[in-house]
Amino acid sequence: MRRPFIAGNWKMNLLAAEANSLADGIVKDMAKNTPQVDVALCPPATYLATLADVCRDSRVRVGAQNLHWESSGAYTGELSGQMLKDVGCFYVIIGHSERRQYFGETNESVNRKLKAALQVGLHPIVCVGETLDERQQGVTQKVIRQHVVAGYDELSKEHAEKTVIAYEPVWAIGTGMTATPDQAQETHAFIRSLLVDLFGSQTAESIRIQYGGSVKPGNVDDLMAKPDIDGALVGGASLKIDPFCRIIRFQS
Ligand code: PGA
Repeated sequence: MRRPFIAGNWKMNLLAAEANSLADGIVKDMAKNTPQVDVALCPPATYLATLADVCRDSRVRVGAQNLHWESSGAYTGELSGQMLKDVGCFYVIIGHSERRQYFGETNESVNRKLKAALQVGLHPIVCVGETLDERQQGVTQKVIRQHVVAGYDELSKEHAEKTVIAYEPVWAIGTGMTATPDQAQETHAFIRSLLVDLFGSQTAESIRIQYGGSVKPGNVDDLMAKPDIDGALVGGASLKIDPFCRIIRFQS
């Protein structure tokens, strides 16, 4: 049985005081309502250490939005997995479409980052997903296969089990256009079949696959009702306490 996993990707938003009070509100709501889900907050890197503190002794964990694959050295502006771990990070998002689109991330860099994260004991959230153009050209499955197969190249079963995949159709991110639950389920099932081919069914069944792209209180229940949708990676709706906590308490 896969435990549901809801993560908030704050992207490049909020100042320190806002970040603190948002995290604090979520921690308090979780303590009161005790939903049976895993929750992660992925703030800008400057708030990771403070938020790890705010979330200490709670069931909320903190994740970074990116890492570099090297462990240290002359890489101006970058952060290593060890540094993230050192300030209390548990998760790290890898290969988000915005990083692929604006910062030149490739399946190869995703693979290097994935290995680096696992090496230091971080739990990666690996993002995959097609653009609108690719969907219209009918190459969704081809693109997803490349993202998963190349992204997970040379990973052991043991390492694969520590990862989470986020299926985020690029056309649904920040646009208000959500994939229908059926569309999302179809791709999630396809991703799981790829994982079966790569790692066998036992490992594939244990890996959680989140959906991401305009997830809101109004659509989370139907998405989470699908058998291969194990959680959500939430952008815009994770920036306010009420909608995010409602998403965490999906189907309640
Ligand atoms: P969104 O972003 O919920 O604002 O569409 C999701 C994401 O990019 O992770």
